[in-house]
Amino acid sequence: MPVDVLLGLQWGDEGKGKIVDVLTPEYSVVARFQGGPNAGHTLEFEGRKHVLHTIPSGIFREGIVNIVGNGVVIDPVTLQKEMSALVSRNVDVNKGLDISRKAHIIIPTHRMLDAASEAQKGKEKIGSTLRGIGPTYMDKTGRNGLRVGDLEARDFRERYEKLRNKHLELLKQMESPADPREDEVAFFDAVNEMRKLNFVDSEHLVNRQIQEKKKILAEGAQGSLLDIDFGSYPFVTSSNTITASACTGLGVAPRHIGRVYGIFKAYCTRVGSGPFPTELENETGEAIRKAGNEFGATTGRPRRCGWLDLPALKYAIMINGVTDLIMTKPDVLSGFETIRVCTHYHTEGNVIDFMPFDMVHRSIEPVYEDIPGWHQALTGVISESEFPKAFSDYIAYVERATAVPISIVSVGPDRKQTIRRTGKIMQAV
Ligand code: GDP
Ligand code: IMO
Ligand code: MG
Repeated sequence: MPVDVLLGLQWGDEGKGKIVDVLTPEYSVVARFQGGPNAGHTLEFEGRKHVLHTIPSGIFREGIVNIVGNGVVIDPVTLQKEMSALVSRNVDVNKGLDISRKAHIIIPTHRMLDAASEAQKGKEKIGSTLRGIGPTYMDKTGRNGLRVGDLEARDFRERYEKLRNKHLELLKQMESPADPREDEVAFFDAVNEMRKLNFVDSEHLVNRQIQEKKKILAEGAQGSLLDIDFGSYPFVTSSNTITASACTGLGVAPRHIGRVYGIFKAYCTRVGSGPFPTELENETGEAIRKAGNEFGATTGRPRRCGWLDLPALKYAIMINGVTDLIMTKPDVLSGFETIRVCTHYHTEGNVIDFMPFDMVHRSIEPVYEDIPGWHQALTGVISESEFPKAFSDYIAYVERATAVPISIVSVGPDRKQTIRRTGKIMQAV
C-alpha cells in the first residue's frame, strides 16, 4: 500500500488538521514528517476544538498509530503541554503515539536564538513563531543537534550543556541578555516525562507497515509557499514542506508515495512577513479575516488575507505532484458579490503567469478575473447537489485552471462539514 501525503499548498493554515482527522479512518498510520511546534493544527468535533502542534492529527481516532517522524523538531515542553491537554480530554496518548529517535530536540536556547535573530533583523524580520525552529534545523544541518535517541544516553545532560554553552556564546555575540536557567527546569521536567513515551526507529516501523500493506497518511505542516527551497525565501520556514519531504522525514522511498492531497483555502492567508501579491489591506481583507476567524492557531496573530492566487497554486501543485485538491473555507466567501482570482502578475512591465525568482525586491501586481459570488450560506450543506450554482462554477473554474480535480470540499470547521465530490457526505464519525 502506498503512503499518501496531505499537505498545504499556500502559506500554511489551510485546514490540514481538520482534513487529516476526517481522512484518518481510512488509514492505519498517520505520520508527521517535518516542522515542529510552529504548526497549529485545529480539529473540531462534538462541539469542541483541539489544537495540535507536534502530535499527528490522527490521535483522536481509536486504533491508529501516530508517528512523529525523524524530520520533525520537538520541543519537550510544548509536547508535554499538548499531551496534558489530550489526557484531560480522555485521549489515551501513550497508546497511540510513537516518536522517532532521529527527530531533533528544541532546547530553550534555540528559542532564545530565534528571538535574538529576529530582533537583529529588525524591520526585515521573518515573523517567526519564535518556537526555535530555525536554530534547531541549523544545528541539525550543522551537525550539532540533539536527537530524541540521545535522551536514552546516560550523558544526555553533558551533551545538552555542550550545546547550550555554544548557544550562550552565540547569544553573547548577538548582545542578547538571555538566561535559560528558569526554562531549563521546565525543560528537564518535560524531558523526564518524554522519556516515558515510546521512542522508535520510525523508518523501520513505517517500512514494516508498508510491507504489511497498511495504509499510511503523511501529514504536512506549514505550506508549500513556506518551503525552505521553493517558498518566498527568505520569508519561509526552515524545513522542506513539500511531498519530497515525506520521503526524507519518514524514511520512505519515493516509489511508495501514492496520492498527494493538496489542500488550499478558497482564498489566501499568510501570517508573518513576506511577499503576498493578492493581499487585501482594506475592508475586504478585514471582512475575510472576520468571517474566517483568521487568527493564528499557534501565536494568535491576525492572519493577512487576500484572494486566491492561481500562479502560486499552480506552482505548488507542480512541485508537489498533487493528485487531488481539497478546498477549504469557501463558506467564508458566502455573501461576497464578486470573488476575485489572480490569474497573472504584472511585474516590471511584463505580464507573467508564474512566481518569479525575486518577489521581495520587485513590485508584483496581481491581474484578476472576477467571478460571480454566491449569497447562500454553505455551512449546513451536506451534499454537492446543494451547492449554489455560482459556487459549483467557482469549483469548476479552479479545476479547469489547475487541471486537478477537487475531490473534497470543506464547508466549516467541524469534522462533519466535509463533502466528497461524489455528492455524498463523508462517513466521518
Ligand atoms: P492547519 O494549520 O492547516 O491545520 O490549519 P489551522 O488549524 O491553523 O487553521 C484553519 C482554521 O480554519 C481552523 O480554525 C479550522 O478550525 C478552520 N477550518 C478548517 N476548515 C474550515 C472550513 O471549511 N470552513 C471554516 N469556516 N473553517 C474551517
Ligand atoms: P501550520 O502547520 C502558518 C510561518 C511564520 C513565519 C514563517 C517562519 O499551522 O500551517 P518559523 O516559526 O517556522 O520560523 O516561522 O513561517 N509559519 C506558519 N504560518 N502556519 C504554520 O504552520 C506556520 N509555521 C510557520 O508565521 O512567517
Ligand atoms: Mg495552522
